[in-house]
Amino acid sequence: MTETEVPSPLRGKKILLGICGGIAAYKTPMLVRLLKKQGAEIRIVMTGAAARFVTELTLSTLSGEPVSKEVLPETEANDSDWTRHISLGEWADAYVIAPATANTVARLAAGICDDMLSTCFITLRPNRPKILFPAMDGEMFSSASVRRNLAWLSENGCRIIEPESGDLASGQCGTGRMPEPEIIAQIIAETFAETRQKSRLTGKSVVVTAGPTREKIDGVRFISNYSSGKMGFAVAQAAASRGASVTLISGPVTLQTPPGVDRQDVETAEEMNREAGKRAGECDVFIGAAAVADYRPETPARGKIRKTGATMELTLVRNPDIIGEFARRKKTGQLAVGFSLEPTEELHHAEEKLRRKGLDLIACNTFDGETRGFDVDTNVLTLIDGRSEPRRLPLLDKREAAERLLDAVEELMNEQQPEDHGAGLAV
Ligand code: PMT
Repeated sequence: MTETEVPSPLRGKKILLGICGGIAAYKTPMLVRLLKKQGAEIRIVMTGAAARFVTELTLSTLSGEPVSKEVLPETEANDSDWTRHISLGEWADAYVIAPATANTVARLAAGICDDMLSTCFITLRPNRPKILFPAMDGEMFSSASVRRNLAWLSENGCRIIEPESGDLASGQCGTGRMPEPEIIAQIIAETFAETRQKSRLTGKSVVVTAGPTREKIDGVRFISNYSSGKMGFAVAQAAASRGASVTLISGPVTLQTPPGVDRQDVETAEEMNREAGKRAGECDVFIGAAAVADYRPETPARGKIRKTGATMELTLVRNPDIIGEFARRKKTGQLAVGFSLEPTEELHHAEEKLRRKGLDLIACNTFDGETRGFDVDTNVLTLIDGRSEPRRLPLLDKREAAERLLDAVEELMNEQQPEDHGAGLAV
């Protein structure tokens, strides 16, 4: 992508695709390819009947992910997977059901959860779009029960895309044909683009710090930590996909820059502080996800320090408090959002940092070295704003944790400037 090209609204989006048992299922492999080509991640759930029209093998190969049909694991080898209906509902940015058959439309309207497809329908997080593409024979589509069920789903927040008219598999001509994959992909992209405009972060300037800093001991050695940058990069990506203009100030990490994000690489805390300072006046939200070294060697040597004895002394001096500086100078309307990582009494220390540094919100990590904290893909955060009760999030993929953090940021923006525009909607 060139710098001037606008990224597809599908880029980086996580789409759960539900496939029901109708002849139109034959179009779904092409749909998966199109969505992936535009940068979306796809996971697929299908009904047992759908598997008779299009194979799991084709769909899992094209999506790069296993396909799910039943809520309970289908083989004993997968038996730790039985909460997948919850994790898929947490994961997805949107749930697209194509084709949606009369039977599935009825089950969804009735709240029946007897397979993975119908169960994910109610585990999907609130505010995430549900888009249904009904496809069936013309007589079925115009039947009173199908019309009633679709009307109910529409009234309850689903986007129903009316089928097209034309030749049907039955040999009849009528309304019931699922649109072509190109049209479906376009409708999904438009849904994301519209939702993006409803985010409070659209058009706002967000600065995110990420990764570790390296503090030089001499020309070849440094003090650092195990931060991978994953948490900060996830926050930057989520903010960019909500339409914010994002600057990511990153310590040394091996991650790729998220699409649409302006990245500034730094090494030391002082460099990070300088880069943050350049943007502090203009940004609307400053999010400190970096694990900044609190201390640096007072006088780093230029070359390599030679070993001379059994011990060695290093004098360390305090580094600038980057987010603290931002919070001290921030103007009305600017928000300072920090993270906190402590080995014990996490909440107590996080609340103390929120007050001492003058932050608006702090995400308190819990750290176990395996599933949360440094250098892993998941995290457990508690969001504290000092006014409402702390909100502990479950164990989440860092990308999902970043979305929840930004939902909380948008809530703060709504409280501060309710007149700005409509309620923030997280997608
Ligand atoms: O990068 P990952 O491997 O994904 O790991 C993510 C993470 C654990 C590093 C991240 O979630 C995190 O918690 N980052 C902050 C860790 C930390 O340094 O916490 P702290 O309690 O020491 O600092 C509190 C806040 O002040 C943080 O927002 C920090 O960025 C900021 N700070 C700290 C020191 C300093 N000199 N300047 C700062 O701005």
